[in-house]
Amino acid sequence: MSEIRRVGVIGAGLMGSGIAQVAATAGYDTIVRDVSPEIWARARAGIERSLAKLVEKAKVTPQQRDAALAHLTFTTRTADLNDRDIVVEAVTEDLDLKNALWKELDGVCGTATIFASNTSSLSIGAMAAVTKRSDRFIGLHFFNPVPLMQLVEVVRAVTTSEETFTRAVAFAKSLGKEPVAARDSSGFLVNLLLVPYLLDAIRAVERHVGSVPDIDRAMQLGCGHPMGPLALLDFVGLDTTHRIAEIMHREYGEARYAPPPLLRRMVVAGMSGRKSGKGFYDYSVDPPRVSDLGLSEQEPV
Ligand code: CAA
Ligand code: NAD
Repeated sequence: MSEIRRVGVIGAGLMGSGIAQVAATAGYDTIVRDVSPEIWARARAGIERSLAKLVEKAKVTPQQRDAALAHLTFTTRTADLNDRDIVVEAVTEDLDLKNALWKELDGVCGTATIFASNTSSLSIGAMAAVTKRSDRFIGLHFFNPVPLMQLVEVVRAVTTSEETFTRAVAFAKSLGKEPVAARDSSGFLVNLLLVPYLLDAIRAVERHVGSVPDIDRAMQLGCGHPMGPLALLDFVGLDTTHRIAEIMHREYGEARYAPPPLLRRMVVAGMSGRKSGKGFYDYSVDPPRVSDLGLSEQEPV
């Protein structure tokens, strides 16, 4: 088994920047591809902020921070990923977009390169099938925020080889993550359970069961969750959640995965959550306040 030394990441959004950060911190030479220098600048600034917090908490030394930043480069050219040992894809949750990239990469990367998708809900097999390396294709599903969340779901398509699985597990461990194996079934383990819960929280808002902050406080204080479901939706991205829900609903045909109308309305209005500055909460003020959703809600108790 050849060693993984050079890592490529496609997509420098929420997840791609986190994956690049942990790869560079673990000592991998890491190249990140996204569509514009403005996006890299935002990703690099986010990584610098995150590393600064980790240094503050003595989880990363200043030397490790400097080395991580030195290991990290950005590009807009797919061709610059030609010498990578593994490429982790974290672009928008859209099968056509991802498959166009995989086809392009398949012609650029060496035959030994492992392809890994960070998809939340799409079929790993459907992506592997558009490449000539379906045995070297796997799902590596990281969690947000990547530098803090320990889990990685390692997802084998029916075509994934045992060697690719073993190498992907070793790679996840080398990033300081705890891998679990999951079947190539939409949503894998976590989103199969988490997505209906998040969508139910939106339905609770629609039905005026409680106010936005009370629903969040209820799950934090009643169940010990670090974040309430509506704050978590803002954190994950309402646009991304909407795409995931549509994909899972199409896959399973079960009403619990159907995107609630309020989610659709918010996405259409550009309310994607924290990344757009507004979702269930308005982040343009400090501390964030509850957004006006045009619903007559119950007052917080
Ligand atoms: N890098 C480094 N440090 C970070 C950070 C980052 N990206 N994000 C937050 N922190 C730090 C904060 O600065 C803070 O530091 P201090 O203790 O010094 O203040 C610390 O972590 C804790 O953060 P906060 O006080 O802001 O908030 P918190 O205690 O709630 O912790 C959290 C933040 C770890 C995100 C926690 O709220 C949490 O675990 N939330 C749930 C996250 C979750 O469920 N993720 C999964 C989403 S689903 C998914 O990812 C899959 C999918 O396909 C959609
Ligand atoms: P995001 O919207 O923050 O970032 C997506 C990035 O992809 C953007 O920077 C965009 O410019 C880039 N992109 C789009 N087309 C591209 C192309 N052709 N080439 C290169 N880059 C391109 O989204 P995200 O939240 O980081 O999600 C990315 C992936 O990770 C999705 O598959 C999502 O389902 C999955 N995921 C998301 C979360 C989460 O909590 N948000 C958690 C786990 C997995």
